[in-house]
Amino acid sequence: KKEITIGMLGCGTVGSGVATMIRENERELTQRLGVPVRIDKIVIRDLEKERGTFVDHDLLCLNIADVINDPSIDVIVEVMGGIEEAREAIEQALCAKKPVITANKDLMALHGHELLRLAHENSCDLYYEASVAGGIPIIRAVEDGLSSDRISGIMGIVNGTTNYILTKMKEENWSYDEALKKAQELGFAENDPTADVEGFDAARKMAILSTLAFSMEVHLEDVKVSGMTTIKKEDLALAEQFGYSVKMLGFSEHDENGVDASVEPVFLASSHPLASVRNEYNAVYVYGDAVGETMFYGPGAGSLPTATAVVSDVLMACRNLLLGIGGKRNPNPMYDRLIKGEEN
Ligand code: HSE
Repeated sequence: KKEITIGMLGCGTVGSGVATMIRENERELTQRLGVPVRIDKIVIRDLEKERGTFVDHDLLCLNIADVINDPSIDVIVEVMGGIEEAREAIEQALCAKKPVITANKDLMALHGHELLRLAHENSCDLYYEASVAGGIPIIRAVEDGLSSDRISGIMGIVNGTTNYILTKMKEENWSYDEALKKAQELGFAENDPTADVEGFDAARKMAILSTLAFSMEVHLEDVKVSGMTTIKKEDLALAEQFGYSVKMLGFSEHDENGVDASVEPVFLASSHPLASVRNEYNAVYVYGDAVGETMFYGPGAGSLPTATAVVSDVLMACRNLLLGIGGKRNPNPMYDRLIKGEEN
């Protein structure tokens, strides 16, 4: 192959970041891959919308099936969000034996198991690093870097929007509404920010991480959720007086009784490292029997950080395609049990 071509589904906050990175890092990507990689088509809903200077308007089109079935497109990047349409598109792409990269945590938390099975059946790969903690390569860390260990727990801040809101309420004395509005303007919040502030977005990420970490199907409904909408800046100030910070934390523990997972606002001693994680940054502790305590930190939301994860997945998909080992990727042998349906 002389080049790899990408069909991108969607071009919002993450998609425009992906287009920007592929253009800006063209030289580095070509060097790392040995051949150029370029976006050939971008499916969008509204041809009139403004999309930033890195999005080439000649590539825009409206029909998903045309892009997926175009034989010149090698790799599909799904950054359109939502559930049903995205699921259908990913299924079609996998059945057409095209590797798919998705940033869609809603979809992965709900139907990731089935989609990974479908990918496996089609000797194809589905990559989803961008679905958890934006720019932190936490999926790779859990799936790959720590795959030799028995992971006993995960704890951390996995939603950038709520951490941004809590930071601005505490440090800048902003109201909850002001902080949420700004988080939306900065592209951190979900289309429906209820998912962020009620804890569902974090719960989805905890379900995805727990599934990988514990090699068992952990579903969204297995994660207990409490939101942070009733927290006021006065509460944060009072907590601070007593030496505490309030943070939205995800927990997940695995023992002989199964998995205990939750997302909730908690008081943390202000000296705790997670208390100093500010704005849209995320931080995730992973505990392994052999490794002990590890901590991963970085921007958890936003266009370019999330695009970093998507484009790294694009590189991995392209490399596997060029090597002819697409669908043979086996980063975590225990995870094989899941995709073959032998879970738990
Ligand atoms: N709304 C999400 C967050 C985006 O704020 O963390 C990144 O997944």
